[in-house]
Amino acid sequence: MKIEAGDLAVGFLMAVLGLIGLFLLSGAADIEMYVFGLALAGFAVVFVFGLLRGHFDRHEHPAPAGYSEAPVYNEAPVYNEAIVKKFVIASMFWGVVAFLVGVILAAQLAWPWFNLGYSFTNFGRLRPVHTSAAIFAFGGSALLGTSFHVVQRTCRARLFGGEALANFIFWGYQFFIVMAALSYVMGFSQGQEYAEPEWHLDLFLTLVWVLYAVVFLGTVVKRREPHIYVANWFFMAFILTIAVLHLGNNLAMPVSLFTAKSYNVAAGVQNAMIQWWYGHNAVGFFLTAGFLGMMYYFIPKAANRPVYSYRLSIVHFWSLVFMYIWAGPHHLHYTALPEWTQTLGMAFSIMLWMPSWGGMINGIMTLSGAWDRLRTDPGLRFSVTAVGFYGMATFEGPVMSIRTVNALSHYTDWGIGHVHSGALGWVAFITFGAFYYLVPVLWNREGLYSTRLAAWHYWIATLGIVFYITALWVAGITQGLMWRAYDSFGFLQYSFAESVNAMHPYYVIRLLGGLLFLSGMLLMVYNLIQTVRAPATERRTPNQAASAAAGA
Ligand code: HEM
Ligand code: HEM
Repeated sequence: MKIEAGDLAVGFLMAVLGLIGLFLLSGAADIEMYVFGLALAGFAVVFVFGLLRGHFDRHEHPAPAGYSEAPVYNEAPVYNEAIVKKFVIASMFWGVVAFLVGVILAAQLAWPWFNLGYSFTNFGRLRPVHTSAAIFAFGGSALLGTSFHVVQRTCRARLFGGEALANFIFWGYQFFIVMAALSYVMGFSQGQEYAEPEWHLDLFLTLVWVLYAVVFLGTVVKRREPHIYVANWFFMAFILTIAVLHLGNNLAMPVSLFTAKSYNVAAGVQNAMIQWWYGHNAVGFFLTAGFLGMMYYFIPKAANRPVYSYRLSIVHFWSLVFMYIWAGPHHLHYTALPEWTQTLGMAFSIMLWMPSWGGMINGIMTLSGAWDRLRTDPGLRFSVTAVGFYGMATFEGPVMSIRTVNALSHYTDWGIGHVHSGALGWVAFITFGAFYYLVPVLWNREGLYSTRLAAWHYWIATLGIVFYITALWVAGITQGLMWRAYDSFGFLQYSFAESVNAMHPYYVIRLLGGLLFLSGMLLMVYNLIQTVRAPATERRTPNQAASAAAGA
């Protein structure tokens, strides 16, 4: 029985990881390193068993006739859809977790009693669980899954690197997420927002991410289409820039090989600048460029129309990637950062409005001639509303980056409102739209189990966002104005505690908005599960048959 080269290489990698796990376990000086070493060794063993099972399954059920690794030019090659399915399922799962933790945080801010008095249920520890689960687990799994789908379809090539490598990327990414969440609840963090995991987890993620880049770029290189479709450009910018940001912001010196604690190489204002260069570009390249890749594929697909202007999409791409990278200093207005740097960040943030709206116009205008579909296709309604929210958040952002406006908005809940109009309205909605389209395609079903349920999801979630962001606009501006109010003697008119007290009603409305958003998500999960459970309507193509044979 011949062992595939891909299985062998990944098996070797797992052996090395397993040994590293045991080594860390043998000398672990803190609980985090102990848990990580044990989990890494366990992960390696389980993964090797998975490899062996896949190997024997393939031997017992050879690929059916019609299955060919080598694509024929005029026929669709056999794509690796099993990996896309896995990412879709993971993203849905993490979406529920992230929104649930978001709701718990919202409840804690309204009624501190919800902290429950334990260290591991405390707001400070759960907050990074929410942000990482929402951005990296829910959003990241959606991005990895859709990028693998889009790159295969638009390049007419099966994923580069084989089954085992793709599976390692999936399970490695999930392992990272679980380990990061565990480390936060145990109280470990390097204290850099959206980059909280300590050095050992950063190194593990680097490995997974580099392999992801190899698989994605390798597929682009072996494409059977002469042209690289614009969605792939956005995905490539997302993959490469996140790699650079991750490495730049996580340059740290561990206290020892066996402790989780490390110190960043930069200190003071340099450290702050590097952090927000990272933080803002996490927004620009993770929460924006990647999801724009999704937009450029799924809106034309669902609307069955070509992109409104391909030329605009190219201008959109280059102007966006050039400008985003300079905008980070708007997070550090009125700090020790030199004033010229703050002004530079502000200028680039204002300029960013243009490419952002170029992209929005391109997305929305793709529907010209197909507007009637919005009445019948709730998935498309999600995508188009997402683009609308994208336009709103990218108008609000440049306004907030103006120093005098930021003097009012910074440190207030306006910022949190802005984040969630982007996060819920843009990131989550564009993902929902993509999945409502993708699940019936991947599982070969006629359509969704219920378009009515999807329509309900749409209205409930939209109402949730409206509650969330309007409450926080009012809350933020109220806070900002209370903090700068002086009485006739020149003393501050309100104490900080009074401003906290004034927030209570808005926090309760936000909680209600979050509950609505979460309920909508549960409807979606039910709807998609029922869609998958429905009988397949079309004849199974070699593609599906092959993935079934591979145990997917
Ligand atoms: C049911 C849905 C959600 C609820 C109820 C919720 C709630 C919350 C709460 C209460 C906070 C802490 C705010 C504070 O510290 O004052 C927060 C922060 C945050 N959430 Fe959410 N969230 C939800 C969904 C999402 C999603 C889908 C994303 C991203 C895709 C997201 C990204 C973030 C980020 C980035 C922050 C940190 C914001 C900052 O530091 O400025 N959230 N969320
Ligand atoms: C042209 C586009 C945008 C610009 C110029 C922009 C600008 C800003 C500004 C000025 C802040 C407040 C900084 C502060 O006072 O601390 C901010 C915060 C934030 N924005 Fe945006 N924004 C844009 C688009 C978006 C989008 C589309 C999203 C989400 C998908 C987003 C997510 C965030 C997050 C997560 C934060 C909070 C960072 C933190 O303090 O933890 N932004 N943005």
